[in-house]
Amino acid sequence: MSTTGLGFSGEVAAYYARFRPGYPPPVVDAVVRELGLTREHRVLDLGCGTGQLAAPLSRHVEHVLAVDPEPDMLAHAPKLPNVEWRVGSDADVPRLGRFDAVVVGQALHWMDHERLFREADTRKFAIIANGTPLWHQHPAIRRVLEEWFGKPMTAGCGTDADARRRYADALREAGYEPREWTVSHSHVHTIEELAGSLFSAMSPDTLPKPHERPLFQENLRAALGSDSYVEPITVTVLSTP
Ligand SMILES: C[S@@+](CC[C@H](N)C(=O)[O-])C[C@H]1O[C@@H](n2cnc3c(N)ncnc32)[C@H](O)[C@@H]1O
Repeated sequence: MSTTGLGFSGEVAAYYARFRPGYPPPVVDAVVRELGLTREHRVLDLGCGTGQLAAPLSRHVEHVLAVDPEPDMLAHAPKLPNVEWRVGSDADVPRLGRFDAVVVGQALHWMDHERLFREADTRKFAIIANGTPLWHQHPAIRRVLEEWFGKPMTAGCGTDADARRRYADALREAGYEPREWTVSHSHVHTIEELAGSLFSAMSPDTLPKPHERPLFQENLRAALGSDSYVEPITVTVLSTP
């Protein structure tokens, strides 16, 4: 059962930590550069999950406060000397203090973004979309999921152009001047890793039962006609100078 009702608990958190592609050095370096971050700066990573962004970012700054409402996600985060992992949500932001920058990786669609942009005590934001959902990338992956679940796969998870436009408008409304930029790379998944990445996007209630997972994996292999999948990832960032 999900402790928060969000769907990132239990096995899903474990799949997220193990199989979800993180942010490679060129992406993290570009975020650091765009935000002008130095070793004197304190950063809030909101919706930090298992630490995909907070962990590499912590090497560039003095301190990261990494906040997420799902304790199971935080349980998989690495222990690091200058990262504090804390249970909380966007609703807690007014009580978290002042930050040189607030970063949100692949999580803003869970939040009240207008309130966040108004209430956060910071001068800089980076809103990061980590590529697009796998089912929007390849018709075979989409077909496997749609046949498995018996319904269309439509979720954009805040990565589509409409969502980015709404986020940019809300940042402007709150007095920021956002700039959108991208970094592209690719990530090679084995079929096991691809299935794991898809499981990390499900909820504990929809995750195939353990004995069904080999079949799900075989369906993916057959549909793609391959033992691997190269995910083209364009990381899109809205940042404020
Ligand atoms: C897709 S994960 C992103 C994790 C990580 N930031 C990344 O870039 O891979 C989304 C995270 O947002 C968290 N989340 C959901 N609702 C939230 C809220 N209201 N405030 C903060 N985080 C939230 C979830 O628990 C989950 O860990």
